[in-house]
Amino acid sequence: MGEALENHGARVLGLVRPGVPADAALREYLPGRRTLGAVGRRSVSRAVFAYYRWLNWLEKEESAQRRILRALELQARFERDPSSIKAEALAARAVPGWLSAEMALTPGYLRSLQLEPALWIRAKAGTAARVAASLGHCERPALPADLLTPPELSALRYEGTTDLHRAPGFQSGAFEIQDLSSQLVGHACGPRPGETWWDACAGEGGKALHLSDLMGNKGLLWATDRSERRLGILRKRAARAGMFNYRPAVWTGVGPAPFRTKCDGVLVDAPCSGVGTWQRNPHARWTTSINDVRELTAVQEALLARAAPSVKPGGRLVYSVCTLTRSETSVIADGFEAAHPDFEPSPLPIAAQGGPGACRISLLPEDLAANGMFIAAWRRR
Ligand SMILES: C[S@@+](CC[C@H](N)C(=O)[O-])C[C@H]1O[C@@H](n2cnc3c(N)ncnc32)[C@H](O)[C@@H]1O
Repeated sequence: MGEALENHGARVLGLVRPGVPADAALREYLPGRRTLGAVGRRSVSRAVFAYYRWLNWLEKEESAQRRILRALELQARFERDPSSIKAEALAARAVPGWLSAEMALTPGYLRSLQLEPALWIRAKAGTAARVAASLGHCERPALPADLLTPPELSALRYEGTTDLHRAPGFQSGAFEIQDLSSQLVGHACGPRPGETWWDACAGEGGKALHLSDLMGNKGLLWATDRSERRLGILRKRAARAGMFNYRPAVWTGVGPAPFRTKCDGVLVDAPCSGVGTWQRNPHARWTTSINDVRELTAVQEALLARAAPSVKPGGRLVYSVCTLTRSETSVIADGFEAAHPDFEPSPLPIAAQGGPGACRISLLPEDLAANGMFIAAWRRR
């Protein structure tokens, strides 16, 4: 790597400022450091994320370099023995104080937050074995008992060290980097070839690409977002993946859908506090507040209410958020049901049927080694 890891890390920390979180600072810093190589770049990212994961264990008076080295020591010790730190200490220091009023801080959840995250990829439908053979170092996921393994699940956990963006298959769209829980949202929608779906908060297209793949590139997928920039990225990814059955459009969420068709299914993958991503993105623990949660619930409620009229009778509405706070999950789902008697809870194809969570499910990081995610579904009567 040449220069010491902690010096690179300290420079990245120096770039972090309001509006520029750690992941953006890494994106600003790393591309200009060609000499680091893929392994070096990954080490710098790991060091910066370890720093924010262990922030409340570090001595403020010490230099940034010393604190980074100390965070890496703590990370290594914890990875060797996750019971070396008591759950009470994790509850007090690994998450902000407001979180305990919003979700259960179980020892399993807290421990999962302090481990390094897994890297998940999604192979195109039916190609998981081929992609795994070509990349190597891939494992199929084992889902917990309350989840049914979808037959088309093509998720692979990648344990290798190659920069996947340069790996064979990435440019040709053979696989996408996509968290396992996000992939399960696609399976919870379960769109069929020939149907019409609307991905109302399509963003850069992570879930839209998956929906299109599950539809066998047949039928129609409306992909809308309020951000033209994000839709631009979606278009590029769609071209790479050979996805043709979609129409992108800007939708700010204020008015009705930008089309008249009634859909077989609508996915509202709403903007949220992102608490479910705090293992992957620990800096967000210290920049997200309960006020953000409160503001986002109003957006979530409005997006669901404005998307619902586009569901045809008998069609499905799916709500997903990568957070586990009560305000953004069960409270939103309860509120939607109370205000929309024309919608009834609809069993999720990924949930073990008959269980209490069959129409709503919380995917927990400690069960899946993936992001925390909440999914609920309704059927229009
Ligand atoms: C969770 S992200 C979507 C991620 C995307 N579905 C994926 O899988 O890659 C939420 C998206 O909602 C969009 N958004 C935020 N507020 C919105 C609003 N009021 N109306 C429409 N889209 C909005 C954001 O631009 C963001 O792209």
